[in-house]
Amino acid sequence: MLVLAVVSLGVPLALSLRDRVNAEVHSQALSQADVTAALSSDLVNPPSTRELEALARSSGDSVRGRVLIVNARGQVLADSAGPSTLGSSYISRPEIAAALRGRAVQTQRASHTLGENILATAVPVVRGGRAVGAVRVTQSVSAVQHAVRSTIAKLALVTGTVLLLGLLAGGLIARQVALPIRRLESAARRIAGGDLSARAIVEGSSEQRSLSASFNEMADRNQRLIGAQREFIADASHQLRTPLTALRLRLEEAGAEGVAGQVAAELDAGTAEVDRLAAIVDELLVLSRAEDRELKGEHVDLSLAVGRAAQRWNAAAEARQITLTPVTVGAGTVWCARADLDRALDALIENALHYSPAGGEVTMVGGDGRIEVRDRGSGLAPGEEELVFERFHRGRAGRLGPSGSGLGLAIARTLVRAWHGDARLSNRPGGGAVAALEFPAADR
Ligand SMILES: Nc1ncnc2c1ncn2[C@@H]1O[C@H](COP(=O)(O)OP(=O)(O)O)[C@@H](O)[C@H]1O
Ligand SMILES: [Mg+2]
Repeated sequence: MLVLAVVSLGVPLALSLRDRVNAEVHSQALSQADVTAALSSDLVNPPSTRELEALARSSGDSVRGRVLIVNARGQVLADSAGPSTLGSSYISRPEIAAALRGRAVQTQRASHTLGENILATAVPVVRGGRAVGAVRVTQSVSAVQHAVRSTIAKLALVTGTVLLLGLLAGGLIARQVALPIRRLESAARRIAGGDLSARAIVEGSSEQRSLSASFNEMADRNQRLIGAQREFIADASHQLRTPLTALRLRLEEAGAEGVAGQVAAELDAGTAEVDRLAAIVDELLVLSRAEDRELKGEHVDLSLAVGRAAQRWNAAAEARQITLTPVTVGAGTVWCARADLDRALDALIENALHYSPAGGEVTMVGGDGRIEVRDRGSGLAPGEEELVFERFHRGRAGRLGPSGSGLGLAIARTLVRAWHGDARLSNRPGGGAVAALEFPAADR
C-alpha cells in the first residue's frame, strides 16, 4: 500500500522533473542565442573580430556550451572554443543553413566532430530586416542528461528513505495493534488447556477492550458453571453413599434372617448390585475431581510406581490365582502427581485382573516414559480401542465378565491427560490386551 503510494507519487515527479529540466535548458539556450545575435548585429558586417570573440566567449560561459558566430555565407567569425575554426565554412550544418535563411532552429543531433549527442540552437543575426549572419549555441546533451539523472537519483534516495521510515512506522503500529489480540489468544488457549482461571488483560483500542471484557465475562460464567457442576456431582455422590450403605446393611440383615435358597440368592444378587452402584458413585466422584487440577506435580519414578502397584494388588491377584509380575525396563521419571499415576494404574490393573482367566498371568512393565499392563485375557473386539474410554461404555469383555462401572478407563485417561500424557488399550500379539499409560519426557 505504502509502496504503491510512494511509487505513484515519485515516478510522475521524476518524469515531470526531467521534462522541466529539458525545457529549461532549451529555452535558456534559445534566449542566450537571441541575446548574442542582437548584440552582434552591428559587429558582423564588417566583422569586428575582437568584439565578436569576446561576445562568443562570454555567452559560451553563461550557457556552458560552445557559441559560434558566422557571417551570411556561413564562415566562422568567432568561436568560443578557440580560433582554430575561424574562416572555415559551417554552411553544411543544417541548423546554420536554416538560421541564415532567417529561421531560428533548435535540434538535437549527433555531432560527428564530438562523437556525442548535442543540442544545437541557431538563430539569425538580423540587420535591416536581413539575415547577415547566424549565432549557434551547442551544448552537450549528455551533460544535461547527467544533471537530470543525478537529480532523479537524489529524488529516489529521498523516496526510499520515506518508504523505509513509513514501513518502520507501519510495522510498529501493526505490532501495537496486534499485541492485545495475541494476549487474548493466549488466554483463550490457556482456558482451552484446562486453566479455567485464565483471563485476558483489558487493553488496546476500545473495540479490543470490549472484546477482552466480553471474553472475561464468558470465562467467569464458564468457570462458575463448571464449578457448580462439579460440586453437584460431588454432593450427589456423598448424598447417595449414606442410603446405599443403609440399603446394603438391610439386605445383609434380611439374608441373616435365614431365608430359603431362592430368596437368599436374590438377596446376594441385590447386595452385589448395591456394591456396583456404590462403586459407580465413588468413581463418579473421582472423575469429577480428576478434572479439577489441584495436585502438585513431581518427578515420579515409574519402576517404583510399578513396585507399589504390585504390593497393592498382590492379594487380589492371589485370590484369582493370577501371577502379577512387575518388570522394570530403562530408567527415568515422569512429571505428574503420584496419586494420579497410582489411581490411573489401578484402573488398568483392576481390568487386567477382571478380564483375565483364573490362573493367568499379568505383567506390569514400567520405564521409558510409559507403563504397560499386559494380560492374556480375551482382548478387545474389533474397533473397540477408543470406545472403551468413553464414560459408562462397557466393551465385549466387560459385558461377558464381572460387573463394573464402565468408568475405570475414562478416569485413567482423564488423570493422565491432565499431565499431558495419554492412556491406550490395544490387543496383545499372541492374545490378550495391553493397557498403557504414556507420559511426555520429564524435562522440568
Ligand atoms: N484388559 C482388558 N482386556 C479386555 N478388555 C478390556 C480390558 N480392559 C478394559 N477392557 C474393556 O474396556 C471396557 C471399559 O473398561 P473400564 O472403563 O475399566 O470399565 P469396566 O471395567 O467397569 O467395564 C471394559 O468393559 C472392557 O470391555
Ligand atoms: Mg474397569
